[in-house]
Amino acid sequence: MQRHKLIVANWKMHKTNSEVEEFILKIKERLRYTDHRETVICPSFVSIITAYDCAKHSKLAIGAQDMYFEDEGAYTGEISGRMLKDFCRYVIIGHSERREFLGETDKTINLKVKAAIRNGITPILCVGETLEQRKEGKTMETLISQIRADTAGISNKDIKQIVVAYEPLWAISKGDSKHEPATPKQAQKEHNFIRKLLNSTHDGAGDHIRIIYGGSVKSTNISEFMREPDIDGALVGNASLDIESFLRIANF
Ligand code: PGA
Repeated sequence: MQRHKLIVANWKMHKTNSEVEEFILKIKERLRYTDHRETVICPSFVSIITAYDCAKHSKLAIGAQDMYFEDEGAYTGEISGRMLKDFCRYVIIGHSERREFLGETDKTINLKVKAAIRNGITPILCVGETLEQRKEGKTMETLISQIRADTAGISNKDIKQIVVAYEPLWAISKGDSKHEPATPKQAQKEHNFIRKLLNSTHDGAGDHIRIIYGGSVKSTNISEFMREPDIDGALVGNASLDIESFLRIANF
């Protein structure tokens, strides 16, 4: 099954509008585009339109870092898929930082994944275990419960539109270089497990779904991850903030 590779920059709460503009204008001509590879940048909400305008006439796609699950209404401060769809091809849903600090639950994540699909935006659903869960041998149990809850009620056809990001919490850099990534073999094992799980919950759909890895991906380790058969790309935080570093990753 040919699944094209996906490299996603998750800029979190970094970069002003002018920094976003400068970055995208500088990289867009230097990205190596092929039919088997896609690059996505997810800036903060306030820079999405700037990013979209700067990326015009290139194959660089823009994504959001979150969205609300209703399409419109009295939800002060929220942004819907209906508002994002003109600019965003992707949206990150259920990132562990939102689960940990911003009250995101499997219930809201499930509603957001459905809302993204309804609006024609590809959700990048983030799952992953904490260090404690891994130490207690509960990695698989955690992944099963997150994936079952987050994809509940999504048809076998619609599920093929999602991307899953496996991000073990202990490997996410938190903006410093103290964290170690999973080894490519460790990540491969969990990706294969997630794929089989989706094959069983959604009648073979797992083989079609891109499963990307996130957690301390850098220009020095990207190619090792990309060699693994079930790793279809990367979700990159810290190392996506610097132009040369991100170009080395995206052009791996
Ligand atoms: P990191 O972040 O690459 O800085 O570890 C990844 C993520 O949180 O998506």
